[in-house]
Amino acid sequence: MKMQGLVLMVLLCAVAQGRVYTRCEWAQLLKDQKMDGFKGVSLADWVCLTQHESNYNTSAKNTNKNGSTDYGIFQINSKYWCDDGKPNATNACGIKCADLLDNNPLDDINCAKRIVQDPNGIAAWVAWKCRCKGKDLTKYSKGVDYGLEQ
Ligand SMILES: *[C@@H]1O[C@H](CO)[C@@H](O)[C@H](O)[C@H]1NC(C)=O
Ligand SMILES: *[C@@H]1O[C@H](CO)[C@@H](O)[C@H](O)[C@H]1NC(C)=O
Ligand SMILES: *[C@@H]1O[C@H](CO)[C@@H](O)[C@H](O)[C@H]1NC(C)=O
Repeated sequence: MKMQGLVLMVLLCAVAQGRVYTRCEWAQLLKDQKMDGFKGVSLADWVCLTQHESNYNTSAKNTNKNGSTDYGIFQINSKYWCDDGKPNATNACGIKCADLLDNNPLDDINCAKRIVQDPNGIAAWVAWKCRCKGKDLTKYSKGVDYGLEQ
């Protein structure tokens, strides 16, 4: 019994673990998930923003001065978008914050799609405003396969 419990725990940990993407892998995944041009935001903007938010690390987690926490590859904020168990979180994405740290980025991408629909758009991300806005971003989408679109 003890041994089985241990094996199960090890398995659960492996499943829950995050992942760090290369720029090219991540850019291709975003492209495949129809993020290029979503709400007018280019693929390069998404890649640039995630690089500067998390370095493409799905486990990235940072606490803000105001007590909220930013989760995952997009550094999604717990006050508005996900549930971290604190009172009065809006949880507009309808997701547990911890789920934004695992190796499945699809829920993160869906939440980012929700966030960018707010009036602030992509400017909701401070890293985008400081590090990507108005810059030459061509290097971020280099090597992405656009299939038949080009
Ligand atoms: C990814 O983030 C986690 C959590 O902060 C950290 O422990 C890990 O070292 C990071 N991975 C890389 C390759 O930076
Ligand atoms: C808390 O700080 C973060 C990072 O500066 C910011 O994104 C978020 O909007 C702030 N939340 C509140 C409720 O002020
Ligand atoms: C949560 O909201 C209630 C009702 O609006 C308020 O009384 C309470 O102070 C809030 N709690 C926190 C931690 O902000």
